[in-house]
Amino acid sequence: MKFFGALLLVAGLAAAQSSMMASMASTPAGMMTHTVTVGGVKPAADPTGTPTPNLAYQPESITANIGDTVLFVFLQANHTVTQSTFAHPCVKMPGGADSGFMPNPSGAAGVTFSMPVTASEPLWFYCKQKVGTHCGKGMVFSINAATTGDKTFSAYKQLAIAQNGTALSTAGIVATAASAVASTVTVVAGSASAAAASATVAVGQGTLGDGSACSCQCLCGANSFPANAGVNQFGGFGGTIS
Ligand SMILES: *[C@@H]1O[C@H](CO)[C@@H](O)[C@H](O)[C@H]1NC(C)=O
Ligand SMILES: *[C@@H]1O[C@H](CO)[C@@H](O)[C@H](O)[C@H]1NC(C)=O
Repeated sequence: MKFFGALLLVAGLAAAQSSMMASMASTPAGMMTHTVTVGGVKPAADPTGTPTPNLAYQPESITANIGDTVLFVFLQANHTVTQSTFAHPCVKMPGGADSGFMPNPSGAAGVTFSMPVTASEPLWFYCKQKVGTHCGKGMVFSINAATTGDKTFSAYKQLAIAQNGTALSTAGIVATAASAVASTVTVVAGSASAAAASATVAVGQGTLGDGSACSCQCLCGANSFPANAGVNQFGGFGGTIS
């Protein structure tokens, strides 16, 4: 009897879900509010650490219909939502939408900016806070970005980091311009009889957990291990980060 009851409940949920989906699909344009949080803090990686600023919109990319509303909920600390072009992610588009600075140092509820969606083509936004280089760290947002091709949300975000980034917190490690930094070194393994191999040093920049910048170097193309050495083994060489 209990089993039968549970089955009925599951069936009921499924029915509710599918009718909800049907009503979402048939909702006429102009009826939907998309809530996007702006900024806030991320919990520290370890329990004793300090939380780090969350330089992001959540979600960072949405699809919306003309007539829908996007409700931006501003958390810590002092952000904007400002419209740009795809080509220049961190520069205000002439005549574009702009919330202006919405400081909320304590993360209190109710600091919001409401924006109607008035176009169906892709719309691009960023945070214009220069203290901390928010846009250059990838604090960008899009509405109706293509999911394939050249003008995806991820391409826009990479452009923001490429054009305005100095410390690369959200993009992770990227190689800096090869012409500027790559150098070729000669690696001689162990004994004098070992063949010299030509290798390149790739230099990258990244951000440590505490937000400070770091650089790293990777030796690429040196001798490989002998065939089968290390197969099914774990381990490696310890590295340092400077
Ligand atoms: C928010 O940031 C802007 C730009 O950096 C600054 O002019 C303004 O004073 C800040 N507001 C507060 C309350 O921190
Ligand atoms: C991004 O860089 C451009 C070019 O240097 C500059 O004009 C713009 O103000 C920067 N944007 C932000 C948000 O820092």
